[in-house]
Amino acid sequence: MNKRLSIIISCVLSLALLVACDDGDIYEKSIVHDGNGRTAKLTGHFSGLSNWPTSHYLALAGFAKDNDFAVISKIVPSTSDDVDLVLSNIPDSVERVELCVLSRLRKRIYTLVSKSGDEIVTSDTILLKGSGDVSMFNIIQEQVFNTTCVNCHGGSNFAGAGLYLTPGLSYSAMVGKPSVKLSGINIVEPGDASGSALHKVLRTDSTKTWRYDHTSEIVSHDVLNLIDSWISNGAEEH
Ligand code: HEC
Repeated sequence: MNKRLSIIISCVLSLALLVACDDGDIYEKSIVHDGNGRTAKLTGHFSGLSNWPTSHYLALAGFAKDNDFAVISKIVPSTSDDVDLVLSNIPDSVERVELCVLSRLRKRIYTLVSKSGDEIVTSDTILLKGSGDVSMFNIIQEQVFNTTCVNCHGGSNFAGAGLYLTPGLSYSAMVGKPSVKLSGINIVEPGDASGSALHKVLRTDSTKTWRYDHTSEIVSHDVLNLIDSWISNGAEEH
């Protein structure tokens, strides 16, 4: 009986000690030292940094293996087109550093520039360089319209519903332009995603009514939300 009591007492004591330790400096230090001190640096000249909404943003971010959620990230500031951004204290778990588009939950939607493997595991400073138009619209143009849509919308000698989604033509073909297929609404109505034909076409099963059902074109909800977010935030071109 006595033995059991002493075991209980020593358990309670060591628990009290643990709690006491947890409250002080030691806890904070363990966070600061969570990593091997690697630093990533992004430099370059960009345009279109300023029109990103809070729901999506451009970031310099570190990712662990097979995980789309950033372990560590820093928003690319829109104060200047000349970017010189430093991300420090990158944890050991990070195997890939990217300039990318992240969602509010820090999930990667698109990678713009990346480095991985030995290049980043062995060096203390990881250098990334980038340039070009990184506006929300241009990202959608390059990652969405150019990759699949142009096959049927102006990339060859066919343009479904007369709609050109090729670079340089897509913006003026959609924004504020009446839909051919859905009467009474515009293809893109700035500020009103759900009232835009583009939103409806990509999300509504039209197998029975249209020549081509678009719902399997974009299966990622993150990408559909990115397009909606562009429209809701004024559908700006640059
Ligand atoms: C396999 C061919 C094909 C692909 C790929 C395709 N479309 Fe279409 N699209 C069409 C056709 C055909 C129509 C006209 C439908 C009809 O007449 O029934 C159309 C119509 C549309 C319309 C309606 C335009 C209006 O004025 O009402 C929009 C918007 C549209 N497509 C957007 C897109 C986007 C965005 C993509 C890429 C994510 C895409 N399409 C990919 C064939 C395609």
